[in-house]
Amino acid sequence: MKAVILSGGKGMRLAPITTNFPKQLVPVSGQPILVHCLNYLQRADIKSVAIILSVHTGHLIEEVLQNYNFNLDIEFIYQDEPLGLAHAVNLAKDYVNGDDFIMLLGDNLFDKDLSPMIKDFYEKKADSSILLKDVTHPYDFGVVKFDESGRATKLVEKPKEFVSNYAIVGAYVFKSKIFDAISKIKPSARGELEITDAIALQVEEGLNVTTNKLESYWYDTGSKKGLLDANKMHLITLKKTDQINSTIRNSHLLGNVNVQEGSCIDSSSLMGPIHIGKNVKIVDSVIGPYTSISDNSVIINSEIQSSIIMNDSEIIDSQIIDSVIFKEMKVEDKGLVIDAIMAPEKTLVKN
Ligand code: TTP
Repeated sequence: MKAVILSGGKGMRLAPITTNFPKQLVPVSGQPILVHCLNYLQRADIKSVAIILSVHTGHLIEEVLQNYNFNLDIEFIYQDEPLGLAHAVNLAKDYVNGDDFIMLLGDNLFDKDLSPMIKDFYEKKADSSILLKDVTHPYDFGVVKFDESGRATKLVEKPKEFVSNYAIVGAYVFKSKIFDAISKIKPSARGELEITDAIALQVEEGLNVTTNKLESYWYDTGSKKGLLDANKMHLITLKKTDQINSTIRNSHLLGNVNVQEGSCIDSSSLMGPIHIGKNVKIVDSVIGPYTSISDNSVIINSEIQSSIIMNDSEIIDSQIIDSVIFKEMKVEDKGLVIDAIMAPEKTLVKN
């Protein structure tokens, strides 16, 4: 079994961070989202993956992944324009070369071992298999109706009227027949080739599309809320590590506070779960739960809670709540920053 991860896209919902930066590299509990996805593949014992990248930002993903040692053959395939999930996966047709494959969305995080889904795909001799999550507002998603055996009977992308509470989550297993279906579909009203339309066509043509229900969590990190919720959930489940080679002076640390080497916490209060990367400096500050602060950032006389602070940022005399702060951003004397996505001006300049 091969794998294809879709890591291109526009990323409009996370602007301005995504102007020149791929959302799949935003850290969740200290690790890029895409690294979490590659770990799912490793857990399922998959050995080969193609990653679809945007021509604008894909080189950054290639660079970052060089720092990791995955037991995976990785091929990078570039998509000129973000013309939809089905368009993106279709670029991997030659790479797939007739094999079965798992497809993941590079911005979706969940807590699932993919192996049972793969096993079920083979046991049920499925043509395609989709992962489903029970959601309260199904109208924003691709949704699925299925029979007692779990076989899909109807798929609709963003339904106007109620069809089902079960939304398609970003993990799919396909036979290479999916490429036949993709060749027959037309772009949707939003101008994208939708993978839901290709699978819906397979259902209409009587192919065997099976479903698996996800009982645990799932987050679409392509939105600020999804990103911060995923960070929160990953921090809750983060294993406690010893604070080796870090300096902690005149400070109170409560709960699970992970501090990596070279960091210094001085005259501050921290209440976990919190992730603090390498060489971070925190002085005269209060850091609340569900906060991730990445390498080389400096926090002085500030309060931060439920936020992601990316690497090499400076937060001075400010209060940051429910926000995402891009790398190399200086936030000084800003008072209360709440529910915001902030990036430095130069990030806004298009290449
Ligand atoms: P989406 O989040 O559905 O699309 P997007 O990235 O364009 O985001 P937004 O709606 O905020 O503008 O994409 C899901 C995943 O698939 C994500 O990892 C990006 C990837 N993708 C591609 O690789 N190619 C594409 O053409 C599209 C639309 C998405």
